[in-house]
Amino acid sequence: MTHLYHDIELPGRKIPGNLFLAPIAGFSDAAFRSICIDKGASMGFTEMVSCDGLIYNSEKTVNLMQRAPNEEYFAVQVFTAKPEIALKSVPTVLRTNPDVIDLNCGCPVPKVVKNGAGSALMKDLPLLADVVSALVEGASASDASVPPAVSVKIRSGWDSGSLNYIEAAETAVKAGAAMVSLHSRTRVQGYSGKANWEHLKKLKEAVDVPVIGSGDLFSPEAAVLMLEQTGCDGLMFSRGSLGNPWIFEQTRALAEHRTPPTMPAEDEKILTALAHLELAAGFNGETKACREMKKHLCSYTKGNEGAAALRNRIVHSASLAEYREILKR
Ligand SMILES: Cc1cc2nc3c(=O)[nH]c(=O)nc-3n(C[C@H](O)[C@H](O)[C@H](O)COP(=O)(O)O)c2cc1C
Repeated sequence: MTHLYHDIELPGRKIPGNLFLAPIAGFSDAAFRSICIDKGASMGFTEMVSCDGLIYNSEKTVNLMQRAPNEEYFAVQVFTAKPEIALKSVPTVLRTNPDVIDLNCGCPVPKVVKNGAGSALMKDLPLLADVVSALVEGASASDASVPPAVSVKIRSGWDSGSLNYIEAAETAVKAGAAMVSLHSRTRVQGYSGKANWEHLKKLKEAVDVPVIGSGDLFSPEAAVLMLEQTGCDGLMFSRGSLGNPWIFEQTRALAEHRTPPTMPAEDEKILTALAHLELAAGFNGETKACREMKKHLCSYTKGNEGAAALRNRIVHSASLAEYREILKR
């Protein structure tokens, strides 16, 4: 019997566990990744980091790669459509000693796509290959005993008429990618409509590297179903983890045929949100942390009794002291 929860084997290293936090722009920062690791995530991906920003040493860009002390394993996701910029950006990425450097081939945002990056790479596979090769070449200069693995995160295709995820993954693997994540929606779908898990199954049959599934993972049951139905090696939680880092330990328990821990009571959720805020303030400073915490808090308190009133009060909170006061009450 194959086990649903297991290590992910990469060249020369292994990640203990196959339940990842997805790259989520505006959300998967060091503070949230740290909270998720604490609750059982095997590894977290940074939000997408611009290779251009890295070579210009933009402080804002470099800060996206802050690594929390409890992140024993670490994946940095980058985006670019220029192989030479990819190569030049790697030394800055290597300073964080990552296990994985992941290339974003799925972002649908016009600002990214119009420069040929993100999901636009799905339309230019020779370029996708060149960017992967450049990252692999850059990673091979690492001082670490084993260079970080290079991986890609792709979509099913640009639109329903061009479902080229298998060709894209094969191209990336040939260029040196050691793992492929698939968000099984097209670029045209964005984040709506249903993800097509059949694509994951087909991809798993087609390539020899670990395949990580993404799309519509909103519960531990859905996660286990994805592992069972598609045979994918691991998965990454995205929207389903927001305000719900407990999804990692619950999924692991279910995958191991144990009774999952019950959802925490409202006060434990609030305490976790507060711990999240304190961590974020440590990484990004109080002002930014308080501003960005609003969206996380909406997720933590979703469905709670009195959540709307709580939200109304935190909208105006600008300091840790105000947050502490309101949340503790
Ligand atoms: C707000 C938001 C930001 C995202 N940012 C990124 C990103 O930076 N890089 C990336 O590869 N995918 C990004 N994604 C896609 C997710 O990683 C994931 O593939 C997608 O949400 C599908 O999973 P879900 O249906 O379980 O949410 C983002 C998704 C959302 C909703």
